[in-house]
Amino acid sequence: MEISGARILVAGATGVLGGLAACALAERGAQLALAGRNQVRLAALARDLGGPPARCFEACDLDQCSGLGPWAERALSGLEGVLVTVGAAGFGAVENVSNAMAGHLLTVNALCPMAVLRGAAPVVADKGFLLAITGEVNHRAAGEETADGLAGTADDLAGTADYTASKAALSGWLGVLTEELAPRSVAVLDIRAPRLDTGFTERSLTGRPPALPPGADAMKTVHSLLDDIASL
Ligand SMILES: NC(=O)c1ccc[n+]([C@@H]2O[C@H](COP(=O)([O-])OP(=O)(O)OC[C@H]3O[C@@H](n4cnc5c(N)ncnc54)[C@H](OP(=O)(O)O)[C@@H]3O)[C@@H](O)[C@H]2O)c1
Repeated sequence: MEISGARILVAGATGVLGGLAACALAERGAQLALAGRNQVRLAALARDLGGPPARCFEACDLDQCSGLGPWAERALSGLEGVLVTVGAAGFGAVENVSNAMAGHLLTVNALCPMAVLRGAAPVVADKGFLLAITGEVNHRAAGEETADGLAGTADDLAGTADYTASKAALSGWLGVLTEELAPRSVAVLDIRAPRLDTGFTERSLTGRPPALPPGADAMKTVHSLLDDIASL
């Protein structure tokens, strides 16, 4: 897909990866609609990017999430793609994670991206794309080899059950959506990012992350994600 001129919604634009992706897409000439929770950061980003349409949303309001795609399609008079970069970290042995927190992680990490893409699917153009970020962790937990050739080990997975479950749910859903949208040639991208240097795990809503080596360069991941889009 030609990124220059493509009309793209970034949901989660006030986060580190979302902000980097929005700036990189704008540099390559995409026309953006921005959505994020933090009103101040959203307004600042929109100002930096020349005033694209911007809207605040809360991940736990799933109807609001589903409304973002149709809103962006109206604001941009068309929609070729959607990136969802919303997410929340939460850690702890399963007996230490409350049911309320487990529900919140599932909502922010799975139900919210699903709702955004559910609302966007009917309005995104044929041959367009829908993208969400899962991560390596759910694939490691399933014993699959990842880019670094490692399946999960007890050390790096302990304390991640609820976060992992939320990303695994999203990943499974994206897999089925891929098949559903294939007749319209809409690509569904499941970005299995490794741990990155965005500070994400330090913003954990509960518990502490497992001790892990430093995260990889987020900008590199953003550029490879844009290359994936450009090669569609
Ligand atoms: N960084 C990593 O190591 C890594 C690895 C694999 C996958 N991922 C995934 O990549 C995505 C982006 O992560 P990041 O590193 O860029 O972290 P981040 O900077 O913390 O971004 C998370 C985004 O989610 C938003 N968010 C959280 N709770 C929300 C809620 N209740 N309502 C609306 N928005 C909410 C945040 O909004 P605010 O701006 O308002 O806080 C922020 O925009 C996440 O899905 C994460 O799971 C990250």
